[in-house]
Amino acid sequence: MSTVIDVSDVTVRRGRSFLLDHVTWRVEETDRWVVIGPNGAGKTTLMQIVSAHMFPTLGEVRLLGERLGAVDVFELRPRIGVSSAGLAAHIPPEETVGDVVISAAYAVFGRWREAYGAIDETRAERLLSQMRIDHLKDRRFGTLSEGERQRTQVARALMTDPELLILDEPTAGLDLSGRELLLATLSELALDETSPTTVMVTHHVEEIPAGITHALFLKQGRIVAAGPLEQVMTDDVLSRTFDLPLKIRETDGRWYAQAFLAPRRAL
Ligand SMILES: Nc1ncnc2c1ncn2[C@@H]1O[C@H](COP(=O)(O)OP(=O)(O)O)[C@@H](O)[C@H]1O
Ligand SMILES: [Mg+2]
Repeated sequence: MSTVIDVSDVTVRRGRSFLLDHVTWRVEETDRWVVIGPNGAGKTTLMQIVSAHMFPTLGEVRLLGERLGAVDVFELRPRIGVSSAGLAAHIPPEETVGDVVISAAYAVFGRWREAYGAIDETRAERLLSQMRIDHLKDRRFGTLSEGERQRTQVARALMTDPELLILDEPTAGLDLSGRELLLATLSELALDETSPTTVMVTHHVEEIPAGITHALFLKQGRIVAAGPLEQVMTDDVLSRTFDLPLKIRETDGRWYAQAFLAPRRAL
């Protein structure tokens, strides 16, 4: 088994604030991680580091066996599939779903004069079906629901057959059906052993797909806990991460969190 992400004592500093503060984290090839933490915890910053889009202020980062800083990031990036709100903002609204997905093969947005081979076309078709968006192939990206957009972005992230898949808050802003459809799709992906090593960010434990094996809890740029899901998903870890007394339970492979607060009477 090989190590896909090896982050060692990483600090990211902007002015006086520490976005990440001495973070050490390892992800192995067969792992499927969820990264959980409140807004501003540093989740997106950590995802930018492990997708080779940001360098740390201090510390060492190895991705897919290569050391960040010693490797050409333009060779590394195609091996890592990313879906994030930041990237989605660059997708032209008039682009069709089919083109958003297939153009990832050439690391461009906007299909323009590229000649795609039959292998690319077949792969794109398969991903559209896997993500339950095959019926939307000719629809313009700008006309999709948020859930359909998220599934299109995941399909695009998988198009280059990456060794590592990074999904930064794929479930943010989805309605109930959008969330459930995405979770079902992400569960299938996580449970499939041929899928790439996966890291998914969320701030809701209710949005952890089945098949996730590990969890990293982040708060104010620091790791609260990291390890196998059933070991770290505890009331104590969750309460410390969100600064609130929380109870967690698992039912049918899904996780639920609830606060228990002392009742207050109006004066
Ligand atoms: N360039 C920057 N300079 C200063 N602070 C920043 C910068 N970028 C992000 N931050 C702050 O760093 C913290 C972590 O951000 P981020 O990684 O996006 O958190 P998360 O994804 O967990 O919500 C936030 O408080 C954010 O406001
Ligand atoms: Mg974020």
